[in-house]
Amino acid sequence: MLRSKIAGIGHYVPENVVTNDDLTKVMETSDEWIQERTGIQERRYGTKHKETTSTMGTAAAKIAIERAGIQKEDIDFIIFATLSPDYYFPGSGVLLQRELGITNTEIGALDIRNQCSGFIYGLSIADQFIKTGMYKNILLVGAEMHSMGLEFTTKGRNVTVIFGDGAGAVVLQPTENENQGVLTTKLHSDGTYAEKLAMITPGSHGGYHFDKMGIDMDFGWTDEQYGEIFMNHHQIDNNMIYPVMEGQFVFKLAVKKFPEVIMEALQTAGLEVGDIDMLIPHQANLRIAQFVQRTLKLSDDQVYNNIQKYGNTTAASIPIALCEAWEQGKIKEGDLVCLAAFGSGFTWGSALIRW
Ligand code: UT7
Repeated sequence: MLRSKIAGIGHYVPENVVTNDDLTKVMETSDEWIQERTGIQERRYGTKHKETTSTMGTAAAKIAIERAGIQKEDIDFIIFATLSPDYYFPGSGVLLQRELGITNTEIGALDIRNQCSGFIYGLSIADQFIKTGMYKNILLVGAEMHSMGLEFTTKGRNVTVIFGDGAGAVVLQPTENENQGVLTTKLHSDGTYAEKLAMITPGSHGGYHFDKMGIDMDFGWTDEQYGEIFMNHHQIDNNMIYPVMEGQFVFKLAVKKFPEVIMEALQTAGLEVGDIDMLIPHQANLRIAQFVQRTLKLSDDQVYNNIQKYGNTTAASIPIALCEAWEQGKIKEGDLVCLAAFGSGFTWGSALIRW
């Protein structure tokens, strides 16, 4: 039976380091609050006119392609996961194709909108295409340029201090080696709480979901203000165009769903927590990762975290952490690697990979 293996991996983060103290200049926050609640010390922000979600994804992809020992022309499918695309449409997959200089139009480019679990959703999709024999070199990218769309005010501080920019990429190939590759992926969703962590403008909802669900986003919008277009002046003038999050609500569900979905994958693969050599949790909050580690009774060298340096890079967080852990020799051939994520949607998932 064919399996998918990670043949090459790469990551890219912008040079521009933004510390917690830097953020105190534009909002009421403190290094102490941010570190205590999230573990984050600094994050990277891309530079306008130089970096975008798709260019950072391209930089990571180039490394992954080189490490896979293939040429860009060998790529037969692109999957791009992001919540901060360069354009509302078209998606970032085709922009990455153009940036990479892939002129082959026989290939497809798919964009994934699953926020924090985007990379795991993408991995699961790639895995199915490889297993059926449809594609042989799938480029899977997770990238975010959050800094262009955050609210740099005290009102937006609970969201803004968390997020950072960056990108990670892998090349997936088929293998017939039974002791290597993706063993299983698990995907979940629950739309009940879609607005608990969301960016709702620009959008075409026109107020529908708020009316139906009785949701008060605390905006006090009138029908006129919903507008008949994706975004209007009222929304811009009143800072309604940024992500919103009920942090504690998300936190409580995350610490429940991470262990659940990890155990589910292990059960399917006939493995146990003790078999995990490396857990790469989505880097949402160091406190969440530590909670998960304690729940599963994993040792420090069984979990890799780098949120301290990069903040939460959403779809990019898992491939960046996976790449760093591998580069540092913390993941070796034959190791059992577990990936897990939870985030906006809500969507969550896990993957088990025999490296
Ligand atoms: O990756 C996507 C999934 N996202 C997550 O998993 C995030 C999950 N949630 C969290 O990580 C945490 O809820 C946060 C880090 C976002 C927030 O931490 P918290 O301990 O839940 O804080 P809170 O939202 O309950 O706010 C506590 C207080 C509030 O002040 P009052 O009302 O007690 O006076 C906030 O206004 O902290 C205040 N606060 C801040 N203070 C300084 C919120 N953000 C900040 C800030 N700096 N950046």
